[in-house]
Amino acid sequence: MALSQDEINHIQSVTSIVDVIGSYVSLEKKGKNYFGLCPFHDDHSPSMSVSEDKKIYTCFVCGNTGNVFQFVQNYENVSFLEAVKIVAEKNGIDVNLDLKTNTKYDKFYDAYDLAIKYYQNNIKTADGKKALEYLHKRGLNDDLIKEFDIGYANKSNDTLSKLLINKGYTEKELIDLGLSNKSNTIYDLFRDRIVFPIHDSKGHPVAFSGRIYEKIDAAKYVNTKETMIFKKGEILFNYHRAINEAKKKKKLILVEGQMDAIRVYAEGIENVCATMGTALTNEHVKLLKKLNVEIVLCFDNDEAGEKATLAAGDLLDKEKVNISVLRLSGEKDPDEYILAHGVDAYQEAINNAVSFFDFKLNYLKKNKDLNKVNDVTKYVNSVIDELNKSGDPVLIDLTVNKLSEEYGIDKNVLLNKVIKVEEVKVITSPKKEKEKKEKNIRLIELLLFYMMNNNKFINAFEKELGSINNDKYQRVCDEILAYNVKFGYINLPDFISYSITTDEYEIISDIIENNINNELNDDEYIGLINKIKQINKEEEISKLKEQIKNTTDINEKLRLTDKLTKIKKDV
Ligand code: UTP
Ligand code: MN
Repeated sequence: MALSQDEINHIQSVTSIVDVIGSYVSLEKKGKNYFGLCPFHDDHSPSMSVSEDKKIYTCFVCGNTGNVFQFVQNYENVSFLEAVKIVAEKNGIDVNLDLKTNTKYDKFYDAYDLAIKYYQNNIKTADGKKALEYLHKRGLNDDLIKEFDIGYANKSNDTLSKLLINKGYTEKELIDLGLSNKSNTIYDLFRDRIVFPIHDSKGHPVAFSGRIYEKIDAAKYVNTKETMIFKKGEILFNYHRAINEAKKKKKLILVEGQMDAIRVYAEGIENVCATMGTALTNEHVKLLKKLNVEIVLCFDNDEAGEKATLAAGDLLDKEKVNISVLRLSGEKDPDEYILAHGVDAYQEAINNAVSFFDFKLNYLKKNKDLNKVNDVTKYVNSVIDELNKSGDPVLIDLTVNKLSEEYGIDKNVLLNKVIKVEEVKVITSPKKEKEKKEKNIRLIELLLFYMMNNNKFINAFEKELGSINNDKYQRVCDEILAYNVKFGYINLPDFISYSITTDEYEIISDIIENNINNELNDDEYIGLINKIKQINKEEEISKLKEQIKNTTDINEKLRLTDKLTKIKKDV
């Protein structure tokens, strides 16, 4: 059974957000609001405020914000509906929501569960003996094999396919799921391989990685193809097992191979997951960023691993994720390192991981002879490029001091280079243009934020503006208007609950995050509408000018010029 928006709104209206958040975090009243340590970043002084009348919490440091449902969602790492259910139960409301039957993919996860059981059984049979011996030889004991649900796909051609068909799956479903394929008859995709189940971030089994266990001429690993439940770029091996420990330790180790993740985890460092050898994607970054913890990149000890570290680091850095880097020496990967040196040495190495910036400095030094003037010049210039990219004054100061000491270069010469580039950036017009655009966007976001709070602002918007000159924000606006039409009122916490099911949720939550501390003020709103009117007008004028310049049809030119004069007059 799904919950209606009205029911969700009702649950929120009878809930004290202070009581609910107070049951997780201790809160203290200061003035109108309550304050506590923010559980979503490593907080040392209370930076999360909770407002009973706004029914919103917000952290001034990490920016995490939302209504009571989102707090529970983020804290307990559950879905929105699960959070609604938890909040309802805290209020003694029975929502009777069978979440188990709620996902349309359950049948597919069940197929994977069955396959896992089948493969696990195989590994105990005579056929699986060699595979099991291989795992034992690699130091994986039976408990660990059980914990990671590692199994063996035997040599049989179609036993799994037949088994699943008997359970009611169609051939097409099995092929779509990446478990089977068909030439004349249906056959199993994994044959004679050790199989490692792969889970999504919620812990559903969605794919397998199959490894050879004897020296044969075949790919070392074969993985399930992309399916509706397995999107390679969105999944990190072991993520679902690592979440809690990562939050506790405020740290997550990211390795390349699933065997590395299994080894590190097995040795008691449970905050570890693996990219499975693919390049880090933006979706991976989202998963990692969500944890709000330090990410330690610990890829393989070869050139590919170094390049992957650089690429992954840049991607995470852009999203302001706190990253450090561990480059192992000697052994090929964390698995072999731990086998050779023990887990304590590995833990020590993690503790000594360097910042991503320091890793980059080392990388830039590679293949350069820093006794040669030419190479020092190249090196110093590339460091300055990095400094300019970062724009971080503290980092600039520290690094310039270090370079100056190390290579005997006058500090002012270095600072001049950094600052020169900065100045160039400021005076170029594309940057100004961009700043202006960003400023306009902020105004539009604030306008929408007002509208989410009270429909008197919607009424004024409809009377004075009617639409927004930007597709993305117009879509948000449409959602706000639709909500108001449907429910006849609007307030922020209820609108947040509603917005979660819309396609615009990400934009909406950004808008709220950026504006949550804004006190609503009628005069400011009127000023805002006037400013946006002015922006729209300027945009229309420049668009018209462009059209006039480009058209060759004289009548059209006249018509457009006429329009332009009218707009300009209409101050
Ligand atoms: P590695 O070659 O570093 O494997 O590939 P590994 O983790 O050390 O594996 P073992 O120790 O030999 O068993 C890293 C990751 O790249 C993917 C796998 O996910 C692997 O864990 N990979 C590698 C493939 O998908 N296919 C391959 O043929 C090889
Ligand atoms: Mn390995």
